[in-house]
Amino acid sequence: MKAIVFGGAGFIGSELAEKLISEGNSVTVFDSMYTGKMENLSGCSSKKGFKFIKGDMRKLEEVKKALKGQDIVYHLAANADIRGGMENTFLDFEYNAITVYNCLEAMRLADVKKIAFTSSSAVYGEPGVYPTPESYGPLRPTSLYGASKLAAEGYVSAFCETFGIQGFIFRFVNILGAKNNHGVVGDFIRKLTKDPKKLVVLGSGKQRKSCLHVSDCLTGIDAGVKHGKQAVNFYNIGNDDWAYVDQIADQVVAAMGFKNVKYEHTGGERGWAGDMPFVFLDNKKLRGCGWKPTLDSQQAVFRAAKEMLSAQSIEDKHKQHY
Ligand SMILES: NC(=O)c1ccc[n+]([C@@H]2O[C@H](COP(=O)([O-])OP(=O)(O)OC[C@H]3O[C@@H](n4cnc5c(N)ncnc54)[C@H](O)[C@@H]3O)[C@@H](O)[C@H]2O)c1
Repeated sequence: MKAIVFGGAGFIGSELAEKLISEGNSVTVFDSMYTGKMENLSGCSSKKGFKFIKGDMRKLEEVKKALKGQDIVYHLAANADIRGGMENTFLDFEYNAITVYNCLEAMRLADVKKIAFTSSSAVYGEPGVYPTPESYGPLRPTSLYGASKLAAEGYVSAFCETFGIQGFIFRFVNILGAKNNHGVVGDFIRKLTKDPKKLVVLGSGKQRKSCLHVSDCLTGIDAGVKHGKQAVNFYNIGNDDWAYVDQIADQVVAAMGFKNVKYEHTGGERGWAGDMPFVFLDNKKLRGCGWKPTLDSQQAVFRAAKEMLSAQSIEDKHKQHY
């Protein structure tokens, strides 16, 4: 199979590219390096069948060229930092909605028939039902990021229904792993590295977040793409449980080997405007495809924190050496 991974030099995209190539597929990674890094691709860049294109999905012509002859598109390119949209309100629309339109239009012109798109639990906003099923509605995102993902889902759905494309839409919870460059675990590690005695936690610390390790996320994507029979297939990818933000902090502190860290809470139900106080998705549909998570939320945090710390120390040693 010939697969193209948009956003493949990022955290999840690079892990996906590595998995696809190890399974014998030809893989093209297309990335603008907006937040992506070449070193994320060290596991696959020398492998047979791998190709890298530096390009910008905001430019339709560049996407059109890259798509010729591909069997399946994995679209992960995005501004994945939810808080970024508060400073620049066009950012999420440009990176998360326009890129998806360009991708679908290029697929229509090049006759590429399958797209897997990474959406987010942010499309649900603050739903009244937990765990939240894929059928929950109306969807009322509370962040501009969530709004842009919902708009993108709408375009995937409409292009699929109109032009005979098959779509797989994955709504992720908080995904964690070694290469994660944004989000709560990295934030806590950075703060604790500066001051191991005190940790400022945004909000009350009582926000409840379902977390999933990236390895479980990848098997989920695989199961969904293999089993989805509809024109448009929606899947939640989340864990069977959730953790309080304070418990996430506890796991990071433990992974770093610190003790007696004092938590200072900034207060309020949310960490920032648009933050979701409770994220817990119903994963029965994906479980029906034979998938199940192997680590619970707190185990995923601990493993990811350990992996991030070890990746960081390798990077530091590399910097010292050169
Ligand atoms: N990490 C999570 O917890 C999480 C949760 C929900 C949804 N998601 C979604 O999963 C996907 C991957 O997230 P991630 O955490 O790996 O983020 P990431 O920032 O590590 O990766 C995104 C990649 O997209 C690339 N990119 C951005 N704009 C581009 C453009 N215009 N053209 C080409 N490439 C571009 C970046 O350079 C980067 O390599 C995103 O769509 C994100 O919204 C992630």
